[in-house]
Amino acid sequence: MTSTTGTKQTDQWSPTDYVAHASFVPALATRVVTLLDPQESDTILDLGCGDGVLSLELAARCAHVHATDSSEKMVAYAGARAAAKDDGKMRVQVIDAATEVAQLVPAGTYNKVFSSATYHWVFGSVRTTAERQRAIKDVYEILPSGGVFVVECGGQGNIAEILVALTSCVINAWARKGVVRTAEEIRQTLWPWYFVSDAEMREWLTSAGFTIDVLESEYRPTTLNGSDEGMKGWLQTFGFTFWAGLSESEKWAAIDEAVEMLRGADWVEYSKSWVAGYVRCRFRAVKK
Ligand SMILES: C[S@@+](CC[C@H](N)C(=O)[O-])C[C@H]1O[C@@H](n2cnc3c(N)ncnc32)[C@H](O)[C@@H]1O
Repeated sequence: MTSTTGTKQTDQWSPTDYVAHASFVPALATRVVTLLDPQESDTILDLGCGDGVLSLELAARCAHVHATDSSEKMVAYAGARAAAKDDGKMRVQVIDAATEVAQLVPAGTYNKVFSSATYHWVFGSVRTTAERQRAIKDVYEILPSGGVFVVECGGQGNIAEILVALTSCVINAWARKGVVRTAEEIRQTLWPWYFVSDAEMREWLTSAGFTIDVLESEYRPTTLNGSDEGMKGWLQTFGFTFWAGLSESEKWAAIDEAVEMLRGADWVEYSKSWVAGYVRCRFRAVKK
C-alpha cells in the first residue's frame, strides 16, 4: 500500500495469515476466471497476485503469467510457490497497481491483464478519483490493441457491516485511552479500501478508452474459513490498518469487541459459521 504522499508504507501483509484465513478468496474466483477465459497462447499480467494460488492456476492454462503485488512478502511467497512448480511459466515482481504499472510494465507485452480481489485495495491506496482513473488508464496504455482487462473487486456496499464494526471498535479502543476519534477521521486515515459502484467503474473504463463487454455486481454472502475463529482470522488478516497506534493487547481487545458486534450480523448459528456480506464488482473490458 502506498500513502498519499507517495512513500511506501510498512508491508503489513502476512502470507501465512492469508493461507490460513483467506483461502476462500482464490477458491471463489471461478466467475472472474471464466470472464478471463485463459488460452494456451495468452500472456497474462496478474495485478495483486497474493499468495500466488490463483496465478499458478492461470499459468497452468496459458503461456505465461507475470504475477505482481505491492507486498514484498506476498510476492516472495508467490515466487516460492512458482519456483517449487519449476515449469518457468510464472514470474513474480513487486508492482504497485495504483502507481507503477505504466512505469514498470513494457507496453504490448501482455494480451490480458487480470486482477482478483485487489482493486478495492488499489483504489483505497490513493485518495482521489483522478488517481483511481489514472490507474485504469495505465492498464489501457500497456495493453496492445485487442487486449483485455478482467477484474473482480469489492463493489459498493461490500462488507458494510465489518466496516462499521471496525470503525466503532477503533473509536472505543481510543476512548479507553482517553482519546476522542471521529468516524470521519477514521474513514479518512484508516480505511484501506474503496468499493467502487458500477456507474463509476463504467465511467472510468470508458473514459480510459475501453469498450466494456461485461460489467456486473453481485451480492455474494461469503463463508469465512474456520468456525468460531473465522471472523477473528478475517479481521487479523485484512484489518491491519485499523490498529495503527494501538498496542498488541489493545488491538486484540478491539478485535474481540468487533467480533461480538458482528455476531448479530454475520454469525450463522445453524451452520456454526461466519458469513460476510461480500459484494463483487466484475468487468471484462477490451482495448479496441
Ligand atoms: C485479497 S488479496 C488477493 C490476492 C489474489 N489475487 C487472490 O485472489 O488470492 C489482495 C492482494 O492485493 C495486494 N495489493 C493491495 N494493494 C495493492 C496495490 N496497490 N497494488 C498491487 N497489489 C496490491 C495485497 O498485497 C494482496 O496480496
